[in-house]
Amino acid sequence: MVKEKENLLEKVVSLSKRRGFVFPGSEIYGGLANSWDLGHLGNELFNNIASLWWRKFVQERDDMVGLRGPVIMNPKVWEASGHLQSFTDPLVECKICHERFRSDKEDELKEHAQNHLEAEPLSKPLSKEVQPRGSDIWTEPKNFNLLFKTYIGPVEDQQHVAYLRGELAQTMFTDFKTVLETTRKRLPFGIAQIGKAFRNEITTGNFIFRTKEFTIAELEYFVKPGTEDEHYKNWDKLLEKFLIDDLRLVKNKVRRYEHPKEKLAHYSKGTVDLEYEFPFGWGELTGLASRTDFDLKNHEKLSGQNLKYKDPETGEEFLPYVVEPTTGLERLMLAVLINSYDEVEPRSGDEEAVHGKEVVLRLPKMLAPIKIAVLPLSRKEELTKPAYEIYRDLQKHFMCQYDETASIGKRYRRQDEIGTPFCVTFDFDSPKDGKVTVRDRDTMKQERVEVDQLPDHLTEKLNN
Ligand code: GAP
Repeated sequence: MVKEKENLLEKVVSLSKRRGFVFPGSEIYGGLANSWDLGHLGNELFNNIASLWWRKFVQERDDMVGLRGPVIMNPKVWEASGHLQSFTDPLVECKICHERFRSDKEDELKEHAQNHLEAEPLSKPLSKEVQPRGSDIWTEPKNFNLLFKTYIGPVEDQQHVAYLRGELAQTMFTDFKTVLETTRKRLPFGIAQIGKAFRNEITTGNFIFRTKEFTIAELEYFVKPGTEDEHYKNWDKLLEKFLIDDLRLVKNKVRRYEHPKEKLAHYSKGTVDLEYEFPFGWGELTGLASRTDFDLKNHEKLSGQNLKYKDPETGEEFLPYVVEPTTGLERLMLAVLINSYDEVEPRSGDEEAVHGKEVVLRLPKMLAPIKIAVLPLSRKEELTKPAYEIYRDLQKHFMCQYDETASIGKRYRRQDEIGTPFCVTFDFDSPKDGKVTVRDRDTMKQERVEVDQLPDHLTEKLNN
């Protein structure tokens, strides 16, 4: 098995484009910086990750309910939440080319200044020794708000300004009372949501790691004040378990990062991130914040509505505290792709393989975009016809592909490369004994299985 750190990202990017996981958005117009489209396989993989998250954190619990809110909310929401005031990054501008950067990204600033130094001719002389972050070329930092602004209706004035949501959490706060009334939940309980968030990020990059539009799987867990630390610890463990046991990320590539007090978001009294070691360094996958009653309190104040919870036993009324686990799904998808990418010595029997190694995407079975490939051994009608019927039947249970083109070795290789856990081959014995060969992507074992038993057999294998 080969797993080199160098070039791993490039290999995953190339596989993603070649096979239809992820490719640049608006490409026919030269693309749009850091905008990516999910292709047919990427869309399936993404949905499978989102469904697994929903299953673990909503479906399999009785203290969770779901919600789907709009992208554009009343702008007062963002006033109460503090985002208009505090959802900012410090920004500096290069005095030479006027490009803007985050002032806390020392390495990028230094590299940019260095590039000007090396460029010929220089539009402005720079000292030979570039200072930390090339301070002589930068303006003073200014705060830049990350919320995307838009206008409601045809008049583009201040009265009609609205924002694309920068996080999902706010619907869970504004709807808190309605959800309580419609579900009759008692504390502690949570509201979960998966959806798009938008941030006018200054620095983007590293493929789908940081973009301006991305998907968050987020839940607000409402608890009795004074119990938040215990719930915080519990969610911390659950998030780690999800990454390691369910997404199967390699344990030593996942670490915790506790935010220092002075760097906490404006709403948080404590935040821990779970990070993954990407080829470009450690990066946040998921965050856990202790949000206190910050949001409910501010919404109560600005809306004038009572958002308190009434304890059905004691009759006591109070604002719950909130513990918030939040996860970026595109980041999970990138981590899963990188974690699953493997190169092996040729094994498929594809004689036309031009390179020395073959790619096997060792995705957790339940995340694989295509679960089963049905492959007739030859293109003779006596094999293709019944094989196609098997495929149509299996399609009712799983995402499947049917492939009768090229040699069997080449078809195995194609499926290994996209992480298909099982290939079902219909051969010349199949019409006689009513059995097919099931090949396992990881063990390469081949089993003869009765055609009638296939859906049950494969369901069991996929759930293992
Ligand atoms: N409600 C809290 C909140 O939104 P966050 O840490 O700012 O928390 C949530 O964002 C998650 O979204 C992060 O853990 C990260 O995985 C992902 N994320 C944040 N900014 C992102 C970006 N620009 N591109 C892609 N994913 C991003």
